[in-house]
This record gives sequence, structure tokens and C-alpha cells, in this order.
Amino acid sequence: MLNFSRSRTQTRSARSLSLGGMDYTDPKKKHSIVGKIILAATLTAICIFMLKQSPSFSSPSVFSRHEAGVNHVLVTGGAGYIGSHASLRLLRDAYRVTIVDNLSRGNIGAINVLQELFPEPGRLQFIYADLGDPKAVNKLFSENAFDAVMHFAAVAYVGESTLDPLKYYHNITSNTLGVLEAMASHGVQTLIYSSTCATYGEPDKMPITEDTPQVPINPYGKAKKMAEDIILDFCKNSDMSVMILRYFNVIGSDPDGRLGEAPRPELREHGRISGACFDAARGITPGLQVKGTDYKTVDGTCVRDYIDVTDLVDAHVKALEKAKPGKVGIYNVGTGKGRSVKEFVEACKKATGVNVKVDYLSRRPGDYAEVYSDPTKIRLELNWTAKHTDLQKSLEVAWKWQKAHSNGYGPLGGVAS
Ligand SMILES: NC(=O)c1ccc[n+]([C@@H]2O[C@H](COP(=O)([O-])OP(=O)(O)OC[C@H]3O[C@@H](n4cnc5c(N)ncnc54)[C@H](O)[C@@H]3O)[C@@H](O)[C@H]2O)c1
Ligand SMILES: *[C@@H]1O[C@H](CO)[C@@H](O)[C@H](O)[C@H]1NC(C)=O
Ligand SMILES: *[C@@H]1O[C@H](CO)[C@@H](O)[C@H](O)[C@H]1NC(C)=O
Ligand SMILES: *[C@@H]1O[C@H](CO)[C@@H](O)[C@H](O)[C@H]1NC(C)=O
Repeated sequence: MLNFSRSRTQTRSARSLSLGGMDYTDPKKKHSIVGKIILAATLTAICIFMLKQSPSFSSPSVFSRHEAGVNHVLVTGGAGYIGSHASLRLLRDAYRVTIVDNLSRGNIGAINVLQELFPEPGRLQFIYADLGDPKAVNKLFSENAFDAVMHFAAVAYVGESTLDPLKYYHNITSNTLGVLEAMASHGVQTLIYSSTCATYGEPDKMPITEDTPQVPINPYGKAKKMAEDIILDFCKNSDMSVMILRYFNVIGSDPDGRLGEAPRPELREHGRISGACFDAARGITPGLQVKGTDYKTVDGTCVRDYIDVTDLVDAHVKALEKAKPGKVGIYNVGTGKGRSVKEFVEACKKATGVNVKVDYLSRRPGDYAEVYSDPTKIRLELNWTAKHTDLQKSLEVAWKWQKAHSNGYGPLGGVAS
């Protein structure tokens, strides 16, 4: 369709030009000139058609060119929970965004929301591709001019990683290597990497600083640590600007209710505590299962440092702004305050207004007792602090979206229950 309309416009404009000049030409020459012009126009049309068929021209979009004053960020995993929120923030801050995701865990619904918010050309494009496919990754980088990459795409459940470790080494470690290779061969210098406090394992001393030894105790943490190591080794001999952000436990959603967290139902059993609490509040599950009450913590349940996704994506933008060639920055992203699972459950009951039934069970393999951050470094170096994180308020915001999207982003996703 596009090809035809393009060549037609081209031909028409060429013809009208020649007609405009015709009155003043010698009638004898007229035939040959018109013939030449028609021939030229036809050749132009054919050339345009062929160019458009060739791979380098199949995305003749602004996304394929660097533009002064425009920062083009590739967001991998942008259909997922954190990646979609990061994309929204980047778009709002006037970045140009390309999202790549293979929707194995993310939601096309989140992409649709973003596209409706930013329909102008050159703002947002979505590319469906698998980062585990080197050809697809190479094509992605060949056809687009990125200034930076925010690499969120991953599989990200501790429990699942103990059951299916290869999936984790493949989709985290190996895929990050692939992204890095593509960045190197296409001269993309800036990387913001999603890492996790799970890379620290279970340190003796709390809070966790960036210098706390990394001794991960499950395949998820190990796969992320390996990916970090690969990135750091590569940086030693390159001009890359790298920021590694080690997130603590992410909660909340867009305060304006446009995006939310909507994991696949089949992942429910591996899911995170907020999802589990909301499912119980909605009656999808009979109650909330708290696993482990005999940890050495204030009340025996696990202690975690919860960080609101709005604060988290703010850390990403600050990291991107402060990234410098040849420099690596590693930062914990947390509040510095640990909250127990029991405290969390109480906050969730208040946020949802539902007296969720709670079952206390034995420990789950791969869990650490107590994890909270020391967020000093990121405050001093990136001027970042958690401003939106308030356990109950963050959960209220997330609950509002959950209630209004009983089916996630699915077909009936917009229908309130
Ligand atoms: N949620 C948390 O509490 C938390 C904590 C620490 C770190 N992280 C990290 O943050 C990142 C994002 O996590 P999330 O919670 O948004 O997870 P998510 O599952 O919601 O999003 C991940 C996205 O990556 C996509 N993806 C996975 N494999 C892919 C592939 N091979 N090709 C293309 N796309 C692929 C999925 O489809 C999904 O949209 C992950 O790297 C995760 O390890 C999350
Ligand atoms: C997504 O990517 C993974 C590899 O990381 C692949 O195994 C899976 O089949 C892909 N899913 C889809 C829907 O393309
Ligand atoms: C991850 O990798 C495994 C191969 O180990 C693959 O089967 C799976 O589909 C991949 N993707 C996801 C999202 O799990
Ligand atoms: C740090 O951030 C605050 C806003 O959160 C801002 O008012 C202040 O000017 C910033 N300081 C520096 C040095 O950039």
C-alpha cells in the first residue's frame, strides 16, 4: 500500500512540473522531453520501490536517524511492569523511545496505553522481537539509531529460578551478553542495567551498601551477578557509560492509573507479595500465604525494602542524565528502611479495605531473612531519594488499578469489576 502511494505521488509531481514547462518548448522537442521525463519519473518510482523493499529502507522512520537534541532510548522489556513505567516517564520527559519486547511476560495492553498517550510520529515505536535471537537483535540495532539502552527484559522470579535455573541463565545472562555485543558493534555507548539486591545474597551486615560482597544464593541472583560481571569486564576496555541499578522490592504503579502490574496468571504461584495480597483481596485466591515465620527478624517474617516504581524510574532517568563515557556507576535503589511481611500485610489490608485471610506456612527455598539498602551513595552522587514510597499509599495506588482492571490488560481489562 505505502509503496504504491509513495511512487504515485512522486510520478504525479514529476508530471505536473513537466506540464508547467511545456507551453514554452519547441513542439518538435516536446515528444522526446515528455518521454524522457516520464522515463525519469518511472525510474525514480522504481528506485523508491526497490529502496523501500531493501532492509535498510524498510523503516524510513525518524527512529533510524540520530537527531540533535533528541535522546533516543531503547527500552528492552518495555511491555513489562517496570519497563512500561520507565517508558512512560521517558516519553513524558521528551525522550524518543523504542520498546522491544517479545511479550513472553509483558502486555501489549501497556504498549497500547503508551501509544495512545504519545501518538505523535517519532515519539514511540514498539518492536516485537526476542532478545535471545541474535539476528533479530542485530536487525534492531542496524535499523535504529539509539543513544542509550535501558535493559529491563528478563525473567524475574526467585522461586521459578530455583525450579528452572537454565531459563534464568539463558534469558538473563546470555541475553544481556547479546545486547552488549549489539551495542558494541553498533556504537551505542550508554547502558542502564536492571540489577537486583538478590545479587548480594544474604549478607551478615545490614544495611546493604554497594560494597557489600555479592554472594547470591539462587539462580536469579547468580544470573544477574554474572550479567553485571560481563558488563563490568567489557567496560574496562571501552568508552561505555554504564549505570547498574540494584533494585530492592518494587511496588506501586502509575499514580494517574494508566499503567499497572499485570503478570501472567500462570506465574501467580511465583508472584510477588503485593500481587498475592491483591489476588486474595479480590477473592481470586482464598487467602494470602506468608512463607516463613521463624526468621531471625523483628516478628519472624522476612524483612524487605520496598520501593515505589515511580521512585525507581526516577532513579533511571537520573542515572541516564549522569552517565559519563568510560565511567561505571553502581547504585542501590531502595529506601533504606526494612518492613516485615506482617507489616506489609497490615498495610495491604488497609489499602484494599479487605480483611484478607492470612495463612502462615513454612519457609520457601531461596528466600533471605532480611534485606534492606543503604541508599546514601545514590543520594550523594545522583541526588536521588525515594519521594513517593509510602507502603500504604503505594499499595492504594496499585490497588486502584487492580480493581479497575480485573482482567489485567486483557480483553476485558478496562472493565471495572
Ligand atoms: N519487580 C521487582 O521487584 C524487581 C526487583 C529487582 C530487579 N528487577 C528487574 O527489573 C527488570 C524488570 O522486571 P519486571 O518486574 O518489570 O518484570 P516483567 O516480567 O514485568 O518484565 C520483563 C519484560 O521482559 C520481556 N522479556 C523477557 N524475555 C524477553 C526476551 N527474550 N525478549 C524480549 N523481551 C523479553 C517480558 O515479555 C516482559 O515484558 C528485570 O530485569 C528484573 O530482574 C525487578
Ligand atoms: C520469547 O523469548 C524467549 C527466549 O528468551 C523464547 O524462548 C520464547 O519462545 C519467546 N516467546 C515468544 C512469544 O516469542
Ligand atoms: C528462556 O529460556 C528458555 C531456554 O532455557 C526458553 O525455553 C524460554 O522460553 C525462555 N523465555 C522465557 C520468557 O522464559
Ligand atoms: C537535588 O534535587 C532537588 C529536588 O529533588 C533539587 O531541588 C536540587 O536542586 C537538586 N540538587 C542538585 C545539586 O542538583
